[in-house]
Amino acid sequence: MSDSMTVLVTGASGTLGSAVVPALTAAGHRVRPMSRRARPGWVAADLASGDGLDDAVRGADAIVHLASAPGRRQRETDVEGTRRLLAAAARAGVRHALYVSIVGIDRVPLGYYRTKLATEAVVRDSGVPFTILRATQFPSLVDTLFTASSRLGPLIVDPGFRVQPVHVQDVAERIVSLLGEPATGQATELAGPQALTLGEMARPWLAARGSRRPVWLVRLPGGLARAVREGGLVGTTGSTGTHTWDDYLVERYGNTGCEPV
Ligand SMILES: NC(=O)c1ccc[n+]([C@@H]2O[C@H](COP(=O)([O-])OP(=O)(O)OC[C@H]3O[C@@H](n4cnc5c(N)ncnc54)[C@H](OP(=O)(O)O)[C@@H]3O)[C@@H](O)[C@H]2O)c1
Repeated sequence: MSDSMTVLVTGASGTLGSAVVPALTAAGHRVRPMSRRARPGWVAADLASGDGLDDAVRGADAIVHLASAPGRRQRETDVEGTRRLLAAAARAGVRHALYVSIVGIDRVPLGYYRTKLATEAVVRDSGVPFTILRATQFPSLVDTLFTASSRLGPLIVDPGFRVQPVHVQDVAERIVSLLGEPATGQATELAGPQALTLGEMARPWLAARGSRRPVWLVRLPGGLARAVREGGLVGTTGSTGTHTWDDYLVERYGNTGCEPV
């Protein structure tokens, strides 16, 4: 399946979707971005209600399924919405559904991860040829986490939390490559080039933002924190992208984060 295809992209307006749409277009595919909101050149559909899904998938050769709603509507959007999307895809004869999931969802006890596992099961049982790509956290998620953790003044982090952030550009390139091959019927992983602790990432982040606020190192209690300290979110296959945390900080804040500005 390396020829030009019509590819429906759910979650096209999101963090990853914003990198995937141009990457698929640059690879010569006809991209059909999907959103709940009507936009020129996009298809409007809602996973939670099912509205618009049959029209969205009609004529698509492949689906890159990125849409997700962590929070109160996650079961209805992710699990049941994916069931609705792939039922429509089966009716329309879609040849490849590529679902983006998360590394470690079977090791880290988080409610959203249980939803991702249940959604993977829906993908596997859908009857539509599929590939699952499990990615590690995007650097923008760590950025958001640090922003939230410093809103009271000091940046509060568990220094032992281990992550291996992967840049959305690397994920987008892997998606293009996976779509160039037939569906594998399996899950594959992609992590970033560096496994880091939040303690290691905190100071460059503060420096990149020109901030001199203190870092408070707090070891968090509980099984979730323990699983993350034990590396539950770190890649297991050695398959990595190329963009580093510093690359992200330069792109986002205009400097490497090595020196306070
Ligand atoms: N963020 C990370 O660090 C990370 C890491 C690994 C894997 N992932 C996975 O990668 C995927 C993309 O993540 P992301 O961070 O790019 O997501 P995001 O920025 O939060 O975007 C979520 C997207 O879901 C769409 N959406 C939400 N509810 C919907 C509904 N009811 N019907 C249709 N579309 C709906 C939204 O589209 P509209 O608002 O336009 O409708 C939006 O484009 C997710 O499956 C996520 O689990 C994320």
